[in-house]
Amino acid sequence: MLTWTPELSVHVREIDEQHQKFIGLLNDLTASIDHDGGKSAADEHLGALEDYALLHFATEEKYFEKFGYPGAQEHVEEHRRMLDQLRGYRRDLERGEDVIGVMFAFAANWLVDHLRKMDMKYGQWFNDHGLF
Ligand SMILES: [Fe+2]
Ligand SMILES: [Fe+2]
Repeated sequence: MLTWTPELSVHVREIDEQHQKFIGLLNDLTASIDHDGGKSAADEHLGALEDYALLHFATEEKYFEKFGYPGAQEHVEEHRRMLDQLRGYRRDLERGEDVIGVMFAFAANWLVDHLRKMDMKYGQWFNDHGLF
């Protein structure tokens, strides 16, 4: 299980809430494997996670544009790579490969790492442009 802690805060309320939701969806996905909800439950959760990732990345990227954030390009590329990875795992799942555990480990690591190394960097910039 992954937990959101205040040290992961980017000091923008809307974004912190999205990160919490994102982590919740990831945990739901693992729970669906632990309780052997079967392939379709895992599929459903992975779909929900992918949709939420899209929405969340679009939110961050909207503010990058609005506030002319200098680190945007590198950051957006990292979002794209994450989505590609998720889609790859989804295809593997559809082919019947058991990749849920690997996928969770990947997504959980990615999320925490991305939060600390990339998302944390825009917090101050967003605050300076009036977003809290
Ligand atoms: Fe984020
Ligand atoms: Fe991000």
